[in-house]
Amino acid sequence: MRVAGIGRAGASVEVMETGEPRPLADDEVLLEVAAAGVGNWDEFVRVGGWDVGAVPPMALGVEAAGTVAAVGGAVTDWTPGDAVLTHPLPLRDQGTWAPMLIAPAALLARKPPSVSWEAAAAFPVPALTAEQVLSDALRIRAGEHVLVHGAGGVTGGLLVALAALRGGQVTATAGPSSRARVSALGARHVIDYHDQDWPEQVRAVTDGHGAAAAASAAPGGAAAAIRAVADGGRLATITSDPPAEQRGITVYNVYVRPDGRQLRDLATRFGGGQLEIPVAASYRLPDAARALARVTGGGAGGAIVLVP
Ligand SMILES: NC(=O)c1ccc[n+]([C@@H]2O[C@H](COP(=O)([O-])OP(=O)(O)OC[C@H]3O[C@@H](n4cnc5c(N)ncnc54)[C@H](OP(=O)(O)O)[C@@H]3O)[C@@H](O)[C@H]2O)c1
Repeated sequence: MRVAGIGRAGASVEVMETGEPRPLADDEVLLEVAAAGVGNWDEFVRVGGWDVGAVPPMALGVEAAGTVAAVGGAVTDWTPGDAVLTHPLPLRDQGTWAPMLIAPAALLARKPPSVSWEAAAAFPVPALTAEQVLSDALRIRAGEHVLVHGAGGVTGGLLVALAALRGGQVTATAGPSSRARVSALGARHVIDYHDQDWPEQVRAVTDGHGAAAAASAAPGGAAAAIRAVADGGRLATITSDPPAEQRGITVYNVYVRPDGRQLRDLATRFGGGQLEIPVAASYRLPDAARALARVTGGGAGGAIVLVP
């Protein structure tokens, strides 16, 4: 099987030959991959900064959408031909940048028919991250003022949509080109993060107190975001930059966690049109290095996917 991956930690991404997928364990499925997501988190895997359960030589990739080709002996929920998406960590064999993928059946969600393969492939990591920030860490309640810093990105946009669906009064930061999209996702106020005083602008639109809860999806942005949080509030960052706690604010440093039940709930909302993934570009597997460079370069303008 020809995959896109690394021969050793830190090596450049290349197309490489691996063996054919091994026989399935009882709780596994074999997927024919239709598309796989590419995120800057894959760069952390490439350099050895995120243990995803496999060691090089290996295919990279931690999310995919595809068709069930075979099921293990104890799998009753899925049958060959089902269209699914997954964040299948820890990896059972290879990563998702491959034509075939072995995944635990418990971590699959049905792909909504209305959603493209590309959008479905780029959905699991950002959607699970956003849900876990809002539900598990911040525990957003209806009516609360919620700040999403870095709302112009893929994960940032899902944070806005999911916070609004929970009844939060969302204020977001975004650049001028993302403003209209972020408003349409449910933000009542959109503030340009290029303004140095944007945290003070957030305070001005939240009765002067600041947001009760804030999610920061802007790299290096949590130190500014905490200035916009009310005394005794909550701040979650997804960019590994938690500031020291201050003014009674609780700080959460969130990393995505595989969760089949959450993914199935999120996929239902995705299919219902409540959530969206803007796909900026898709690349073929031999161009995986270019795809990865595009996401690590920042400002891809949406999700990047690989098609085998
Ligand atoms: N911890 C985890 O498990 C986890 C999971 C998923 C993602 N992440 C991380 O979260 C970050 C965001 O992910 P994403 O999917 O939203 O990325 P993305 O789609 O690449 O987001 C890029 C957008 O972020 C906005 N941005 C850039 N710099 C900013 C700044 N200084 N202040 C405010 N906004 C800024 C820009 O939007 P404008 O168009 O508005 O300028 C840019 O277009 C990435 O660093 C990613 O690695 C972490």
